[in-house]
Amino acid sequence: MNSVTVRVPAKVNLQLAVGPLRDDGYHDLVNVFHAVSIFDEVTATAETGMSVRVEGESADQVPEDDDNLAIRAALALARHAGRSYGVNLIIRKAIPVAGGMAGGSADAAAALVACNELWGLGLPVEDLMEIAADLGSDVPFALLGGTAVGTGRGERLTPLEVGGRFHWVFALADGGLSTAKVYAECDRMREATGEEIAWPRAADPLLAALRRGDAKALGSELANDLQPAAVMLRRSLARTLEAGREQGAVGTLVSGSGPTCAFLAESEAHAGELALSLKAAGVARDVITAYGPVPGPTVV
Ligand code: C5P
Repeated sequence: MNSVTVRVPAKVNLQLAVGPLRDDGYHDLVNVFHAVSIFDEVTATAETGMSVRVEGESADQVPEDDDNLAIRAALALARHAGRSYGVNLIIRKAIPVAGGMAGGSADAAAALVACNELWGLGLPVEDLMEIAADLGSDVPFALLGGTAVGTGRGERLTPLEVGGRFHWVFALADGGLSTAKVYAECDRMREATGEEIAWPRAADPLLAALRRGDAKALGSELANDLQPAAVMLRRSLARTLEAGREQGAVGTLVSGSGPTCAFLAESEAHAGELALSLKAAGVARDVITAYGPVPGPTVV
C-alpha cells in the first residue's frame, strides 16, 4: 500500500466544566465531546523522510514543520513501533484553525490511523489512544468520535448513548485563539472574583437530553466554563452569541476555547434558516451547518 487517506471530524463541547488548576499546569475537566460533520482529510504517502503540506481553510496558519501536530503524531507512532519510518502527509483542512473545534487534534488522530495502516503496524486502538493522550488532551476523543465524556485533562473517555441527530450552525471568526491563553484568562478571572472552583461534574439533565435526542432540552443545558474568558479575549463574540439567541437558536455557546460559536437548531431546516439569518447579520467571517454525532477517523 502506497497511500492511505483518512477523513476525520471536528468537535464541539456540549459541557466544558473546568475544575481547579493542577500542579502539572492542566485543569481537571468534565468535557462532553460531540463529533460534528465538518471534516479534515489527511493523506499519508510512503516516503523516506517526514514531511507535511497543508491545504484549504486557513492553511497558511498551520505550521508545516515538526510543530505540526500530525507530523508529531507520525513521529510518536514510529517511535512507539521502534522503527524509523517515513511519510508525507497532505492535510486538507475544513475545520477552522485554532477555532476551538480540535482541528489540530483531529489531524493528529487521522495521522495515527493513516500511518498505522500505511506502515502495516496493525496496532490496536488502545495503543493509539495512549500515544494520542501524550500528543494533546483532545486527541484521544478525536480517535474515538461520536459523543463521549472526558475526565482528567479530557483524555479519559466514556462513550455516551445519543438518541438522535443534532443540527448545528457554526459561526467562524477571523483568526484563532490560543487554548493555553484562554485557560490562563479563565484562571485570572476566577482569581480576580475569588470564585470558589467546584469539582467538575457531568450535568445529569444534559446527559438525559442527549439520550432522548431532545434538541430543545440539550440547548438549555449547553455550558462552557471557558466562555467568559474567550469573550473577554475576543469581545466581538458577545455580539455573535447574542445574534444566535435573537435568531432563535435553541442553544448557544462558544466552542471549546473559541473563537468559533456554536448554535443548536431544532431540525435540519431550522439550521439552514438560522445559518442564513446569521450570515445576513454579518457577525461572522463564515457560517456553516453541520450535524452530530458522527464517527471518528475513517479510512476513505
Ligand atoms: O493538551 P493540549 O496541548 O491540547 O492543551 C493545550 C493547553 O490547554 C495546555 O497547555 C493548557 O494550558 C490548557 N489545558 C488545560 N487543562 C486541560 C487541557 C488543556 O489547562 N485539561
